[in-house]
Amino acid sequence: MCGIIGINGDENAIDNLLEGLRRLEYRGYDSAGISCWYNDTIVRQRSAGKLTNLEQTLQKDPLPKSHIGIAHTRWATHGIANENNAHPHHGKYVALVHNGIIENYITLKENFAPHYDFKSDTDTEIIVAMLDGYLEQGITPEDAFFMTIAHLQGAYALVVLFKQEPDHLYAVRQSSPLVIGHGDDAMYVGSDALALSHLTNKVTYLEDGDSAIITPQSAKIYQDNQEVTRAMRFSQFKHDASGKGNYRHFMKKEIHEQPIIIADLIKEYVNETHQITLPHNIDWQSYDRLTMSACGSAYLAGVTGKYWFEQLARINVDIDMASEWRYRQPPLIEKQIALFISQSGETMDTLEALHYARDNDQYIMSLVNVKDSSIARASDWVFYTQAGAEIGVASTKAFTAQLMVLLLLAIDAAFKKQTIDKTDITALFNAIHSLPGKINTALMSEDMMMKAATIIAKSKDVLFLGRGLCYPIAQEGALKLKEISYIHAEAYAAGEMKHGPIALIDENMPVVLLAPPDALYEKNISNLMESTARGARAIVISTAEKLLELEHMDNVVATIAIPQCHPLLEPILYTIAVQMLAYHTAVRKGTDIDQPRNLAKSVTVE
Ligand code: G6P
Repeated sequence: MCGIIGINGDENAIDNLLEGLRRLEYRGYDSAGISCWYNDTIVRQRSAGKLTNLEQTLQKDPLPKSHIGIAHTRWATHGIANENNAHPHHGKYVALVHNGIIENYITLKENFAPHYDFKSDTDTEIIVAMLDGYLEQGITPEDAFFMTIAHLQGAYALVVLFKQEPDHLYAVRQSSPLVIGHGDDAMYVGSDALALSHLTNKVTYLEDGDSAIITPQSAKIYQDNQEVTRAMRFSQFKHDASGKGNYRHFMKKEIHEQPIIIADLIKEYVNETHQITLPHNIDWQSYDRLTMSACGSAYLAGVTGKYWFEQLARINVDIDMASEWRYRQPPLIEKQIALFISQSGETMDTLEALHYARDNDQYIMSLVNVKDSSIARASDWVFYTQAGAEIGVASTKAFTAQLMVLLLLAIDAAFKKQTIDKTDITALFNAIHSLPGKINTALMSEDMMMKAATIIAKSKDVLFLGRGLCYPIAQEGALKLKEISYIHAEAYAAGEMKHGPIALIDENMPVVLLAPPDALYEKNISNLMESTARGARAIVISTAEKLLELEHMDNVVATIAIPQCHPLLEPILYTIAVQMLAYHTAVRKGTDIDQPRNLAKSVTVE
């Protein structure tokens, strides 16, 4: 989604704005631009496409040195991705960048700017027109800003630079995140703390409805026309957070970080005497229902969590995609727990679902990766997944970290509800401690994953099958493949395959079967037979031992070996296989793995 950065009071503003845009790339975008104040006017450069295009434009035609400027990566909503629609948008007196959607822009155009010469197809430009209109009447920038934003409806984060005020930036946040950065002699504003991580780690998160007037020395923040104080915090990002290390892609780097992330989570949340040491002590005995809501991969982590909570703690779990759940308006029993899962902590649908739960008297629990994000701050209990900055748009390490924390929460609940016996718990904890090593071993099956990827890369459609705890992982595998290789993939519960998808099966549609050696193994193998008997070429993911029996079967064209593990941990280990399968397929297809077309990392519009 769109990314914003603004700098006030930094002699190196242009270079630092450009570096900020690089740090915002991960959010997904299709054009970019920078504007800065110079000699009583505001100048800009914009380019459609990737940031390299803007960099080339700036090399040919550099912007002048300036101490104040704004920059933007745009993810198109209203108007195609071309230079004209790229931000910053300029008027006679102003330049501005916007993230979100101005829902009433048509009415505003009719009411405030019927004769304005609009240069773009965006919803954003009406804000420029309104500000210009007020300034034309001699109204001050500050008043024009507040008068304009009072009319805006929808979700927006906005940063405005006025020609006549070269030492002020004006900002406002309504349902789209915005953070202010504090430097020594300069102030910054950005969509997230990562965008500012090369400049400062001292940040202040704006709340919904906050507006700010930013000078090089400070930021005054207002809510409902009153000046308010918001705490300054230290962001989690280190200056090198955006490095790829020795990896070709962030995604591969992040896949390989998983053993350490999981090991760190275990170390932090499980002590030597096998007690769970989560940051909040939830009295699970008081609850018999859990409602979960999330989007994308986070939703699939939640689906996996449902199996764990139901099997281990006998807690009823209702889970839905946030975009459906909030509009479905499900009746909720008062004072139960609603759990929201989000890597970014900013996904609009998840945040709005949280508000629905809050309005319906639920306790709000969240699993979030980005510290102090909107969802984290709106929760009663936040559990951080501690996966570090995830830059690849397709979630990998944040997903397995979500799984790990969900499993630990389910064990905590089972323990407190006494639904698990001591021997089982000991066996489970022993298995958990060996999990990081097993993830490492799984990563060593890369040759097998590459061989399977060669087959998948030639296909148009792929069917993923799994049962029980591996069904949501089959869904995650299909999602990852779609996202980064652009190959159509579907996932089905293996037992459901007979009720529809079997009609699609022929030699052109590979079937990827997740078949761990658990209680459902034989049933999975029956589904495998049903597929291969109809010509499907199968790729089977299982233990080396089981694969020895299968690899000579007709139509089993590739296998991926995963270490044997406790059945409850299978989702985490099998995720590694489907992530790597998608990754190597995308490498073969030559797609933009870290920033797949049309996708955004942090989806801050509905
Ligand atoms: C986008 C990302 C996905 C992510 C989903 C939910 O679609 O591309 O990788 O799973 O949003 O994001 P969240 O930040 O709420 O986990």
